[in-house]
Amino acid sequence: MTGIAVSTTINGDTIEYLCQPDETLLDVLRDRLGLTGAKEGCGTGDCGACSVIVDDRLVCSCLVLGAEAEGRRIETVEGMAHGDQLHTLQQKFLEHAALQCGICTPGFLIAAKDLLAKNPDPSEEEIRFGLAGNLCRCTGYDKIVRAVQDAAHVMKGA
Ligand code: FES
Ligand code: FES
Repeated sequence: MTGIAVSTTINGDTIEYLCQPDETLLDVLRDRLGLTGAKEGCGTGDCGACSVIVDDRLVCSCLVLGAEAEGRRIETVEGMAHGDQLHTLQQKFLEHAALQCGICTPGFLIAAKDLLAKNPDPSEEEIRFGLAGNLCRCTGYDKIVRAVQDAAHVMKGA
């Protein structure tokens, strides 16, 4: 297969792949690398379901080209748990029933991880603002906010 050769780091592992010039990072993650956590909700940067962290910056992977991942450090939802040990945010999403259909959940988890890395003690308003780029059609958002608040509380004490 021909394509652009890309070398990048995903969840701490060095990864190399070939991709087409117009292929999004979301498609590369899902279709070439089998990392299907990030979802395609809209494909236009509006829903946040495809959120990943690139070099400590939250991005919509549907708006990034796979070729642009060259030399970058990417974090996806697959890197949050360690074996059977869920990330605190994942655990709190479960405890607070902060998901229903689950399509939005990987994006919310990554966005919340990014938020807490930059602001470990956010107010409710800051959480809502920080997650404003992520849409959920099921939960009404309150349970998600409570889960993030609880996770922040636990992570601060850890
Ligand atoms: S699929 Fe990327 S923002 Fe909706
Ligand atoms: S849980 Fe269904 S869209 Fe959020």
